[in-house]
Order: sequence, then C-alpha cells, then structure tokens
Amino acid sequence: MSAPGSGRGQWSSQVGFVLAAAGSAVGLGNIWRFPYSAGENGGGAFVLVYLLCVLGLGLPVMLLEISLGRATQKTPVGAIRAVRPYGPWKGLGYLAIITGLGILSFYAVIAGQVVAYFVDYAQRVVTDQSIFSAYNGWESVVFFAVFLVLTVLVVMGGLQRGIERWSKILMPLLLILMLGIILRGIFLPGAGEGLRWLLMPDFSKLNLHVVLEAMAQAFFSLSLGMGAMLTYGSYLSKKQDIFHCGTWVVFFDTLVAVLAGLMIFPAVFALGQQPDAGPNLIFKVLPAVFAGMTGGNLVGAVFFFLLSLAALTSTVSLLEVISAYCIDERGWSRARTVWIAAGTTLLVGVPSALAWVGASPWATMRILGREGFFSLMDFAWVNLSLPFGALMLCIFATYVWGLDQAASEILSSSPGFRLLAAPWRFFVRWVCPIFIAVILASQLGVF
Ligand code: PFF
Repeated sequence: MSAPGSGRGQWSSQVGFVLAAAGSAVGLGNIWRFPYSAGENGGGAFVLVYLLCVLGLGLPVMLLEISLGRATQKTPVGAIRAVRPYGPWKGLGYLAIITGLGILSFYAVIAGQVVAYFVDYAQRVVTDQSIFSAYNGWESVVFFAVFLVLTVLVVMGGLQRGIERWSKILMPLLLILMLGIILRGIFLPGAGEGLRWLLMPDFSKLNLHVVLEAMAQAFFSLSLGMGAMLTYGSYLSKKQDIFHCGTWVVFFDTLVAVLAGLMIFPAVFALGQQPDAGPNLIFKVLPAVFAGMTGGNLVGAVFFFLLSLAALTSTVSLLEVISAYCIDERGWSRARTVWIAAGTTLLVGVPSALAWVGASPWATMRILGREGFFSLMDFAWVNLSLPFGALMLCIFATYVWGLDQAASEILSSSPGFRLLAAPWRFFVRWVCPIFIAVILASQLGVF
C-alpha cells in the first residue's frame, strides 16, 4: 500500500487492497464474537442465517461501500457530500465516525485481553484453565490503553509497510494454527456433539432476535455499515476490480469465522463447558484445550500473538475511519488527529474495560435490558448502529446517488459483474433495506 499515510495515497496493487480489507474484516469478530454469538443463539440455525445474511446482505453492501468510496475518492462524510452537497444526508457520514469510535472503545478492550493472554503464555507455563478470573478491571484498562497506542503507531504510518509485509506471512500462519487446533479438538471424546450442534440447524431455536444477532454479526464481521470499506475503497485505483476484491474479502472472512466455530465448539462439548457462556467463551475454552496439548503453552503463546495482530489490522481500520475525516475534511495533521481520536476512545472505553472483568458497578448496571456497560456498547454499536448504517446507505444509493451510477462504477473495472448487476441492484434497492428495516423494527419493539 503506498499510503493512507500521508495525503491521499492509493493502494499500490490489488493485493494491497485485498490484504488491508481482509485485515480489517478478519479479527476478533470472527474468532471471539462469532463463536460466542453462535453459542448464545442456538448454534446451527444461527450459523445458517448468518451465512444467508453474508451472501444476501453483506456481499451487496460490501460492493456498494467500495464503489462509493472509489467513485468519490473520499471518506464517509466527504463521499456523501460529494454526491449530495446539502441537506441531512451527511449525518450518515458523521454516524459512521461515531460508530467507529464506539466500536473501537470496546473492541480494543478485548484486543487488550488477547495481548494479556499472550503475555501470560509467553512468561510462564499456564496450566490453570481458568486464568480469565485472575484478571482485574484496572489491568484490563492498562492493556486496553496499550492496544490503543499500538493502533496509533500503525495508523500514523510508520509501521504500515512493516505490518503489511508481516501480515502476509502471519495471517496464513494463524489459519494453519487454527486448523491444527481444530484437528486436536475434533478428536477429543465427545467432540462430535459439538460439531452436530454447530452444523445441524435446530429450527426451533430460530426467532427474530436470533436473526438480528446473525445479521448484525455479518455486518460487524465484514466491517460494514460504518464506512470502513468505503474508506478503504477510496484508496483504490480505477483499474482495480471491485467485484473480484469484494468477493474475496467476503469469502475469506466467512471461512475464518466457520473455522473459529469448528475450533471452539467440539472442544466446548468435549470438555463439558457451556456453549452460551457469553463474551468470555474463547478465553475460557482455549486455555482448557491448550492445557491438554503437548507443547500447549507454546501453541497458546503463538495463537494469542497472532490473534493480537489480526485484531490490530481491524482496530487500524476503525481508527483510520475516524482519522481520515479530520485529515481530509478538516485539514488536521495525521499525528494530531490519531492521538486525539485515541484519547477520546480511551475515555469512552474505560467503563467497558472495567465492566469486562471482575466485579464493578459498570459490570452489573442494567440499561435497555442489557447487563453491564460492555454489553450495552456492543448492543448499541453492533446490533443497532451497523445495520442502521447499512440500511441508510442502501436508501442513499437507491434514491440519491443512483444505482445506475453505482453499478457503472463497479462495471468499469469488473466486466465479470455484467450478469450480476441486475440482481445486485434488486438486492440493494429492495431486499437489503426491507429486511434490515423489518428486523431492526422488531428489535426496537415496533411490532
Ligand atoms: N470486522 C472486524 C472483525 O470482525 O473483527 C471488526 C470491525 C472492524 C468492524 C472495522 C467494523 C469496522 F469498521
């Protein structure tokens, strides 16, 4: 990538874009959130609805975001203003920035926890399967802050080349390691039940709430609904194939989520743990798996190191969305912007960090039917804001930008998209908005 570093850079190659976009998409959403969300929502039926949402909502919105970014060569607020210079639509751009900050404020807490596990595994032999309970709230704040600083360093541009070069090697390594852990898990006695639970849908578990969770998870996992792919698309050159790149990112991201499910659930059942343990599911199950492996400590250290990096390429894209606005539209310097954005995120995120581990009033408070500040943030930004952002973007594209414009932006570099252009327009105009609106309305108690 030449530079979302200084000024308006462009990806030097298609591979650069796919790597960065896949880096944004693949992260804790796949490996931490997908398993626990599937665990809380009944397994196979959730997975099936999730896959349908990825195909029917995620892929169309992915192509839309990238094409709007590339057509305008601007980040969310600027892109919307370039199409419609006046009126309330630019509010959608601001919503993207606020959502980015909201997500980063709890996402980096989990990423900090992953780093803490890495440090633990690297320093000592971890035999205790319940290491999660050994952490306290202030440690969580410290690791959260450390992770934000790492993100700042990358977004400032200094490490960008390095990170790109490394992620080419380290991400495939993460996949290989996951395959190894899967192999270990599925041969444990009792693992078959976990596989069945994950892969055989039990439709009695299906209801509108499960559908909302699956839909929100699809947007979150693909980094959609808040302008991250739009921003990355804005650094894409007119020659690069949007359809090809977008499909690859969607495929790869989904593959990693399914592999994460295969890594966790056979072990959950074999080890007699609860699939609906909630957000700390992987932090409880994986140490138990590693404890039973020869060389498990090393595997644990390497796994949490690689997962930290996967999380870093996602937090980078979140901070990039927030920062790119201040840099492109307000003319702030990159350094000033990223430090201010990260400082604000830290302030907003401290309650989430305190609520994440240990006992604190932040962990037990109840707002809007959610227990704890962390879960409130997750619900507000992932379950409500991302689908709402995607919904509004579809309406914007249909009635303001124009789907002819959008389709011709994709077609100009993706001749292979010709046959799919009509169904794509149908999905963006009808299927996505109606589906998202109905599910969101049901969750907000409209009916
Ligand atoms: N897609 C990331 C993950 O699955 O971990 C999370 C994320 C990154 C969501 C960037 C939204 C975003 F803009």
